[in-house]
Amino acid sequence: MYDFDGQDAAVICSAVSIILTGSGSTQCSGRVEVYLNNSWGTVCNDGWDLNDAEVVCRQLNCGSALEVPQSAHFGAGTGQIWLDNVSCSGNESSLTECQHSGFGSNTCEHGQDAAVICSAVSIILTGSGSTTCSGRVEVYLNNSWGTVCDDGWDLNDAEVVCRQLNCGSALEVPQLAHFGAGTGQIWLDNVSCSGNESSLTECQHSGFGSNTCEHGQDAAVICSAVSIILTGSGSTQCSGRVEVYLNNSWGTVCDDGWDLNDAEVVCRQLNCGSALKFLSQITLVQELDRSGLTM
Ligand SMILES: *[C@@H]1O[C@H](CO)[C@@H](O)[C@H](O)[C@H]1NC(C)=O
Ligand SMILES: *[C@@H]1O[C@H](CO)[C@@H](O)[C@H](O)[C@H]1NC(C)=O
Ligand SMILES: *[C@@H]1O[C@H](CO)[C@@H](O)[C@H](O)[C@H]1NC(C)=O
Ligand SMILES: *[C@@H]1O[C@H](CO)[C@@H](O)[C@H](O)[C@H]1NC(C)=O
Ligand SMILES: *[C@@H]1O[C@H](CO)[C@@H](O)[C@H](O)[C@H]1NC(C)=O
Ligand SMILES: *[C@@H]1O[C@H](CO)[C@@H](O)[C@H](O)[C@H]1NC(C)=O
Ligand SMILES: *[C@@H]1O[C@H](CO)[C@@H](O)[C@H](O)[C@H]1NC(C)=O
Repeated sequence: MYDFDGQDAAVICSAVSIILTGSGSTQCSGRVEVYLNNSWGTVCNDGWDLNDAEVVCRQLNCGSALEVPQSAHFGAGTGQIWLDNVSCSGNESSLTECQHSGFGSNTCEHGQDAAVICSAVSIILTGSGSTTCSGRVEVYLNNSWGTVCDDGWDLNDAEVVCRQLNCGSALEVPQLAHFGAGTGQIWLDNVSCSGNESSLTECQHSGFGSNTCEHGQDAAVICSAVSIILTGSGSTQCSGRVEVYLNNSWGTVCDDGWDLNDAEVVCRQLNCGSALKFLSQITLVQELDRSGLTM
């Protein structure tokens, strides 16, 4: 599928990749795992508080931090415990900018793995012909995915969705289940956002699960941003070869004229902090092989 080409544009962003995982986790709540030195590992909850969690929630576009459940609430991880005694002021763009005991240096067990519950509900755009940045809106509530009814669904509502997904602003709200009808719960109806909320559930709506709709009215959105992904051997969420989704297929970006300003736009869109390096595909492979990652 992919033709190797040494001229493909690549980037290494400043932020460390983060994921929320574990049993019962969602995009916006779970055990915190960070990717360092070529492997995923956990964070010890020594001194773990809402300021630390805030940095995680913000990086994941999940609103603000609501809770920091203790005792490996989403289950214990395995492997490395990468960070201990993390102390953020809350406005850092990546956990590794916060004070901590040093990578891999800890006095912890996995029973102390740090977790977070962020304020935003998880959202995904899905359905036939969907991309990361356009599709039928599905939200995760009460342990199941469900749709949103398009009664009164407008660009202000769609704006909240596009912003949370780092997909720029809302361009269109196609009607009549444009990306196909969903199944299961219809979670939200008569959603009315002003556009600046950090999560759909902060907007006015009829109450969870309360609706007068059918799946033929499932809400959809087309956001302005093209989907971007960082991929390739040794890549992480925040470093790799740049691929963009256009005209129904993924493709690369040529590194002619590729510079730190271009890389900066990519890092920002992916919530990966700022650009540390802009590279070609070949130097990226060498760089990641040599350093393991930016640690
Ligand atoms: C990173 O990985 C290399 C190679 O596996 C290892 O030698 C080094 O000690 C690791 N660094 C840390 C901080 O774990
Ligand atoms: C972050 O907050 C701290 C204290 O609240 C402040 O001193 C610092 O300047 C802030 N940094 C940024 C980048 O906003
Ligand atoms: C983390 O802080 C605790 C309490 O201050 C201390 O006992 C522990 O040694 C620290 N861990 C590391 C790896 O420095
Ligand atoms: C959430 O799930 C529980 C258990 O399945 C159920 O009793 C409750 O009614 C659900 N709440 C909503 C708003 O659907
Ligand atoms: C959002 O926008 C509304 C109206 O445009 C304004 O009244 C409100 O203060 C804004 N809220 C935030 C959190 O910016
Ligand atoms: C949503 O709004 C429509 C039109 O105002 C109304 O007919 C419907 O009952 C509302 N749905 C709910 C669940 O309140
Ligand atoms: C987009 O795809 C269509 C159908 O495959 C093709 O005809 C068209 O040339 C493509 N446009 C671009 C800019 O690649």
